[in-house]
Amino acid sequence: MSQPLPASRPTKRLAADAAGIAEAAALLRGGGLVALPTETVYGLAADATSGAAVAGIYAAKERPSFNPLISHLPDLASARRQGLFDANALALAQAFWPGPLTLVVPAAPGCTVSELARAGLPSVALRVPAHPVAHAVLEAARRPIAAPSANRSGRISATSARHALADLDGRIDAVLDAGPTEVGLESTIVACLDGAPRLLRPGGVPRSAIEHAIGRPLVIAGEAGHAPISPGMLASHYAPSAHMRLDADAPEDGEAWLGFGAEQRKHPVSLNLSPAGDLREAAANLFGHMRRLDEMGPAIIAVARIPEHGLGEAINDRLRRAAAPR
Ligand code: TXA
Ligand code: MG
Repeated sequence: MSQPLPASRPTKRLAADAAGIAEAAALLRGGGLVALPTETVYGLAADATSGAAVAGIYAAKERPSFNPLISHLPDLASARRQGLFDANALALAQAFWPGPLTLVVPAAPGCTVSELARAGLPSVALRVPAHPVAHAVLEAARRPIAAPSANRSGRISATSARHALADLDGRIDAVLDAGPTEVGLESTIVACLDGAPRLLRPGGVPRSAIEHAIGRPLVIAGEAGHAPISPGMLASHYAPSAHMRLDADAPEDGEAWLGFGAEQRKHPVSLNLSPAGDLREAAANLFGHMRRLDEMGPAIIAVARIPEHGLGEAINDRLRRAAAPR
């Protein structure tokens, strides 16, 4: 697939203060690319209404351009100008926005999100993030802002400004630095398109909380009879250079170790997602720890077993993608 090459440019470091927020919003309004913090991961932001600006995202990320992007808005009222919310979508937005939930809904007749950001689909992915800095930028930008995670395609999602710069320095106009992100995993994506809400991607809001809010179980995209409709659900996505060996009891000779929970002994090349066995802490550490271990250059990263409940479902989803053959 031919794509514009990422243009080389100096990348400004902006502080997350009033001046930095105003400059980020001005860059976005002018069609620029800005890495900015959300509560989930850093996003690589651009004006979602401008096909040219959105093309810049795909170029900087070297992302296959069939993948539609999430558009970020400051509140539900502005989201409802872009998408059509049925009763389930409305209940979910009211329960979890602002927060780590993305809703895929039919595009509204007046939707201004570009065809490119929607990858030509009749639906649109919308999210109202909770991070105060993201909120301030969105208020000032006064338009939907497309933002996939601020990393090159196939690499680990950026959870700090440093990670974003490691992948994108010289390819984007600015990075707005507000420290490490709190959730550490991308948003949960739920499609509300035909009356039966479907889970497209597990993420920062646990499935059980979503099912509680809508009072029914979610259909899982990709389960028998339901073709996956989110192209981002490709099996191989989060890819460190090392191979990943999951559900391990202990590292073998030469393997790096990504632990979880209390450990009897300390392995030489190891990090622990949460010594206390706390899944929230593990989610927040996941991408940073994978990246740090990978930077040490091991052939294999062995990973401890992570429980499948709560945020563990999303953590295991990301680990399985990192481990998928490629
Ligand atoms: O936490 C997050 O969601 C982060 C932060 C920056 O907000 N953003 C993020 O965006 O993860 P991105 O572009 O990496 O993820 C977009 C996902 C992909 O899996 C894509 O396929 C799906 O959303 N998606 C977007 N629009 C869709 C649509 N109309 N139908 C189905 N899936 C869609
Ligand atoms: Mg991503």
